[in-house]
Amino acid sequence: MKKKEIICGFSKLTREQKLDYISQYTEGPSAFAGELSSYRHSDPAVQKLFDEFSENTLTNYFIPYGVAPNFLIDGKVYHVPMVIEESSVVAAAAKSAKFWSDKGGFTTRVKSVIKTGQVHFFWNGDAEKLFDQMPLLRERLLARTAQITANMRQRGGGIRSIDLVDKTHEIPDYYQIHATFDTVDSMGANFINSCLEEFAEELRQFFRENPYFTRAERKVEVVMSILSNYTPDCLVEASIECDIDRLNDLDEGLTGKEFAGRFQKAVQIAQVDTFRAATHNKGIFNGIDALALATGNDFRALEANGHVYAARSGKYRSLTDISISGGKFRYSLTIPMAMGTVGGLTALHPLAKRSLELLGNPDARQLMRIAASVGLANNFAALKSLVTKGIQRGHMKMHLLNILNNFGATEDEKVKAKEYFAIEKVTFRAVELFLEGLREQVLSAAPKVIFNK
Ligand code: MEV
Repeated sequence: MKKKEIICGFSKLTREQKLDYISQYTEGPSAFAGELSSYRHSDPAVQKLFDEFSENTLTNYFIPYGVAPNFLIDGKVYHVPMVIEESSVVAAAAKSAKFWSDKGGFTTRVKSVIKTGQVHFFWNGDAEKLFDQMPLLRERLLARTAQITANMRQRGGGIRSIDLVDKTHEIPDYYQIHATFDTVDSMGANFINSCLEEFAEELRQFFRENPYFTRAERKVEVVMSILSNYTPDCLVEASIECDIDRLNDLDEGLTGKEFAGRFQKAVQIAQVDTFRAATHNKGIFNGIDALALATGNDFRALEANGHVYAARSGKYRSLTDISISGGKFRYSLTIPMAMGTVGGLTALHPLAKRSLELLGNPDARQLMRIAASVGLANNFAALKSLVTKGIQRGHMKMHLLNILNNFGATEDEKVKAKEYFAIEKVTFRAVELFLEGLREQVLSAAPKVIFNK
């Protein structure tokens, strides 16, 4: 294998040249290039679209696209598309959805939809004078962005507020323009960033030309202008609720009351223990990210947002809350999320469009409601397993096919394994031994070859 070296101008190469180039660094260049190429789409127009989403594209990376049916959300049924590689996530969402569908389903509330962006700048001067000038500056920033915001304003959105924040107690001379936006049904990242970069230009000009400031005060250093992925004012709540005795049939060994009690303890643990909270919240994002991917939304932004919110008290905690009183079990998830149903990948990725179609072409608020419900459903399923049978039993059952594929099992072996492991505990080693046994049986049953002397 060739020794790797720094290459200049890689991006200028054609796709074929790039693939040839990187293939040299693998053990079997032509097998490597061949396998990667085999995942390209047969329709060149579709492939071109995918190639252009990103850079240095060589091929496509497949992840299963599944569906969790039967989500009753605010009285309406949704079959939710989910793109995820982890086994048991879709099954868990589907199971929760079905369980809650005859108990009123998921109730949601979008608390607000405001997003934030900031211009971070350094300025050495009289802060009071700067605050005095803020009404004028605000007007100029709005005027400067009037063209960019025209369409958004027509759709009912736009810039909601522009404030000056003095951060000099944290870093000398550090100030922010802190602006809030309503981006209606779009995620709005490009819209917000474009507005902020215009703000920055106007800010420079404002200082340069303003006779109210001394000569020294006319200098400003804008460090950066960028939206914040933390949107505590773009918040959604999803909840599930039922009489405790409706939880009676959830686990053979437990009454509804006992189950609710164990479940509550598990939530309390995630509220006080950061190690557990991380995993608890990860289970919520299993559902949210899968829906985000299916609908062309930015799951990294959703994750960052949720995790910061989980730490808003100064300690990282569970995103869910529970109450058990008056014979009722109520479980809720409150989470900030900036989702979009227009623009970006939602309009470009053919399957993102199809996902939105399957959901009835929701607006951004509706998609937030669905995402929060799916997150809560996945978390409910995880906790339900954890406080009863444990997670591995169900998870490994779902994982069985992956293990079998790992051992190159034939279709016939898979059928036999599924039958056998319907009652046996699945572990990697147990599957290996089972296959070894099967294969030995086959060998010993095979007709012997008789050599004629
Ligand atoms: C696995 O992807 C997610 C869980 O670990 C979540 C949890 O522990 O709550 C099962």
